[in-house]
Amino acid sequence: MPPRKLAAGNWKMNGTLASLAEVETLMRDCASAEVDILICPPATLLHPMAERVGRGPVAVGGQDCHAKESGAHTGDISAEQLRDAGASHVIVGHSERRADHGETDAAVAAKAVAAHRAGIVSVICVGETEAQRDAGETLDVIARQLADSVPGCATAANTVVAYEPVWAIGTGRTPTGEQIAEVHAAMRKALVARFPDGAGFRLLYGGSVKPSNAAEIFAIADVDGALVGGASLKASDFGPIVKALD
Ligand code: G3H
Repeated sequence: MPPRKLAAGNWKMNGTLASLAEVETLMRDCASAEVDILICPPATLLHPMAERVGRGPVAVGGQDCHAKESGAHTGDISAEQLRDAGASHVIVGHSERRADHGETDAAVAAKAVAAHRAGIVSVICVGETEAQRDAGETLDVIARQLADSVPGCATAANTVVAYEPVWAIGTGRTPTGEQIAEVHAAMRKALVARFPDGAGFRLLYGGSVKPSNAAEIFAIADVDGALVGGASLKASDFGPIVKALD
């Protein structure tokens, strides 16, 4: 059976308490959708969002976690703290964290292990830069990031993989359907070769997904959902994306 589809929203450093109303609208609009919905708000909104919607059809997740459970790490949040605040998922290895905070594949894998230790699902991001694509290195980059960022303890139940070409994030540009299909097929093949349940991992596409291109992207083989940035902030945009997956 193919994995159940997942529509994940990454609010990045956007949103205030007033934004919780968007999630309540989304819940109403998508109440009958047979799709898993995840919103990853900034840490300030995690607990209030979980309190309002986290026990309903919308799951709530963090955008990053520290590899350790606790300690002297100013400004960081552990996976256990995310779970305590109501999170069931956490994004790790987003390209913005890799670029802004120098996160290596090994660091990303350690964060995914931490998520699994805490009993939450890791959403592990991979993706090539434009220079890497232009140099014909895309599949090699993705293979290396998958091998080194996805830990050996990953299963289809505790791990989601998101393919996010760096050059497509927030730019309005998306790869062609053939390019997405090529990467997703390669990711599926690598996961099947490495994990007994590799066929069941959910593979998300992320990068300038919007209501107008969602259906086309979701029709591509091995695309089990999306990790959406800008278009996840408003229910009027994210709702149609969720419904395109239904
Ligand atoms: O995590 C989400 C991605 O970075 C995609 O962002 O939909 O704004 O391009 P975007």
